[in-house]
Amino acid sequence: MLRITRGLLAPAFLSIALAGCNWSQSTLAPNGSEADAIATLSWVMFIGGGLIFLATMATAALAIFAGERWRKLLGRRSFIVASGIAFPIVVLTALLIYGLLTQGLRAGPAAGLRVEVTGERWWWRVNYLDRAGKVQFTTANEIRVPVGAEVEFVLKTADVIHSFWVPSLAGKLDMIPGRVNAYSFRADRAGVYRGQCAEYCGEQHALMAFYVVAEPTVDFERWRNREAGPAVASADPQVLRGRDLFLANGCGACHAVRGTEANGVVGPDLTHVGSRLSLAAGTFPNNVGTLAGWVASAQHLKPENGMPSFAHLSGEELRAVAAYLESLK
Ligand code: CUA
Repeated sequence: MLRITRGLLAPAFLSIALAGCNWSQSTLAPNGSEADAIATLSWVMFIGGGLIFLATMATAALAIFAGERWRKLLGRRSFIVASGIAFPIVVLTALLIYGLLTQGLRAGPAAGLRVEVTGERWWWRVNYLDRAGKVQFTTANEIRVPVGAEVEFVLKTADVIHSFWVPSLAGKLDMIPGRVNAYSFRADRAGVYRGQCAEYCGEQHALMAFYVVAEPTVDFERWRNREAGPAVASADPQVLRGRDLFLANGCGACHAVRGTEANGVVGPDLTHVGSRLSLAAGTFPNNVGTLAGWVASAQHLKPENGMPSFAHLSGEELRAVAAYLESLK
């Protein structure tokens, strides 16, 4: 009976433990140069700390349970000085030097791409910059980068302290009011990596996520050309009705859709919102259903965020607005 229970429990515990793992957002699943160094440092600390803990426990057990001879040995002044003072000083100094050498954030200017990210009230404003620092185009909550290229991230905040963190690609760096912080890193493998605000910044801090999409240079350039251009118009009647409703309801006062009269800068740029993976800063997958739900009840889904709920729209109107937003690829 005991055997059966154990046989069932082990896989159950393992699956629970693994369910907590999200390999698109893990320091222990590095996919870039900076993250590699952090993962190695983490393993050195886990294993080294584990060994020291075991040695300490073994010494304590000897002191308590072993004979008089052991107790005398452990009680010698030279042993106490060596293991209680010299050993920690040597280990901690070595760790400090190792940490400083491997973890020094590499500040720009990187030769390649430059992306400015601004922490907003629970979303991320993303500006792609040219070498002179001029904004080429704006997007939100999703950053695309070419695989293998060093990318410089210029970090700012519009309000309080946020922290920019993509665990699988690099360490975190704070976004501090009145300051511009910058560092650079690269993604070594194509993939979608989840990032998360790592500094408590208010009620919806936990729902302030984003995605970094690393793709081959050819795909990235294709994306960049499309992203820099205006919204592509569609002739679909429902989409056109959605666009009219979008403009008539004043959405353009906060949001920009390049190529239309909507040119607000308060909220996320929606020019190509339909092509993004997620909605509301990594809160929902992006599709017609979640778009309609978000427009109707943004305050219910993510209270206190800057977007009002447009609860007065009818189901048909919501579907049209969502179809319009979804068409903005
Ligand atoms: Cu932004 Cu926490």
